[in-house]
Amino acid sequence: MPTDLPAGAAVLEARGVSLRYGGVQALRDVSFRVGAGEVLGVIGPNGAGKTSLFNVVSGFASGYQGEVALDGRSLRRVDPDVIVGLGMARTFQNIRLFSSLTVLETVIAAQHRRLRQGVLDTVLHTPRFRREEALAVRRARRVLEFVGLGDLDPDQLATQLPYGAQRRLELARALVTYPRVLLLDEPAAGMNPRESAALSELVTRIRRLGLAVLLVEHDMSVVMRCSDRVLVLNFGEVIAEGSPAAVQDDPQVVRAYLGDEVHVGG
Ligand SMILES: Nc1ncnc2c1ncn2[C@@H]1O[C@H](COP(=O)(O)OP(=O)(O)OP(=O)(O)O)[C@@H](O)[C@H]1O
Ligand SMILES: [Mg+2]
Repeated sequence: MPTDLPAGAAVLEARGVSLRYGGVQALRDVSFRVGAGEVLGVIGPNGAGKTSLFNVVSGFASGYQGEVALDGRSLRRVDPDVIVGLGMARTFQNIRLFSSLTVLETVIAAQHRRLRQGVLDTVLHTPRFRREEALAVRRARRVLEFVGLGDLDPDQLATQLPYGAQRRLELARALVTYPRVLLLDEPAAGMNPRESAALSELVTRIRRLGLAVLLVEHDMSVVMRCSDRVLVLNFGEVIAEGSPAAVQDDPQVVRAYLGDEVHVGG
């Protein structure tokens, strides 16, 4: 049995995480820590293992080696929705919104595992049900406002929003669970420069709430603006970690990004 990590550890910590998919070594001996109010950027070329790392941390990938701990508590064999209850939320690289739900319903539905109502409360519309529904609506509206969607018609279908707004809605859905750790997988994908600048500003406001944020992003302007530290993966391994400026100038990082085009004496 793996033991819990010592107390006093970072909010989220990974130690020596390795993951294989059949013959593919997606992660090899990856370690990191992230504390409250800190943004750790995670970058690397396509296939470097960034999403795999998120899957391990958020309980979507079992069968990994190493240890992941939230507030010092091991997350091994803990289900994804239990991990949400422990204070971790994530967004996905590909937008995952339900086409049958409105904007408001999307953010209300995300709260349901947090509400205490049982099946009977729901069926009978007990006073507790009505009280908690009203609270869920208020919270949803507050979070929509926070992510900059306060002016939208809350009754329109989520998937009919413009792309950038769908990404913000996913963020709202994650934030309404009141996480202490937030994993963002390419939140700026498909955004124009103006939208990604606004997203950077939003990530900074989230960090100021005291959340620990793991930010996977290909848009370097977002990574550089938001991150306190940056972890660089290449072929599943950490090849650099440091301040945004230091990592950007690291010759190994530059090489990894330029890839095969810089063979010397080929
Ligand atoms: N479910 C899976 N089954 C088999 N191989 C997988 C699976 N998911 C990922 N891989 C492989 O694991 C490696 C890491 O993939 P991963 O998606 O974590 O990379 P990434 O850094 O997120 O890439 P991208 O920037 O393209 O999103 C790749 O070689 C990928 O093909
Ligand atoms: Mg990915």
